[in-house]
Amino acid sequence: MGYTGKQYDFRDKPGDYARLAEELTALLDGESDRIANAANSAALIFAALPEVSWAGFYFLRGGELVLGPFQGKPACVRIALGQGVCGAAAVQRRTLVVPDVQKFPGHIACDAASRSEIVVPMVDAGTLLGVLDIDSPRAGRFDDGDARGLEGLVRVLVARSASGARP
Ligand code: SME
Repeated sequence: MGYTGKQYDFRDKPGDYARLAEELTALLDGESDRIANAANSAALIFAALPEVSWAGFYFLRGGELVLGPFQGKPACVRIALGQGVCGAAAVQRRTLVVPDVQKFPGHIACDAASRSEIVVPMVDAGTLLGVLDIDSPRAGRFDDGDARGLEGLVRVLVARSASGARP
C-alpha cells in the first residue's frame, strides 16, 4: 500500500499518466488478486482524474459484462456484448472515446449527468477480461492522450493480476 493521494493537473498528460502508472504499480505491488487490484485501481483513478463522475470495471463473465469494482453512483449491473459504449469497446477490443454520449447510438445511461465517456478494454494475452469505464459530466472530457494514458494503467493492472485470479 503506497498511496500518497497526490493530485495531478494533467497539463503534461503523458508525464502525469506515466507518474500515475508508477503510483499504480507501487499500489498493486505484491498483490495478484484481480478484484482487489481493480478496486484499488478504480479508487486511484477516481481520485486522480479531474471532472470524473464514475470510474470502474466490468468483467466478462458468462458471455456478458458484469459490474466490478467502481467509484461513483450505483450503476447497471449487466451489459450485453455489443451494447452501449462498454459492450462496443469489448467487442471491438479497442479504446472508445465518446465526446458526447447522447450522440452514441445505444449508449446506456446509468447516470443522467454523464456527458462523455471513455472505455478501455482489458486484454490478457489475447483473452478479453473486461473493460475499464470512466464517465464525465463534461462533454469532450477525454481525448487520445487520456486513451493512451489509461491504456497504460490497464496494462499495469493486467500485468499485476494473476490469470488464475480471474473473477
Ligand atoms: N454508459 C455505459 C454503461 C456503464 S455506466 O456508464 C457506468 C455504456 O454505455 O456502456
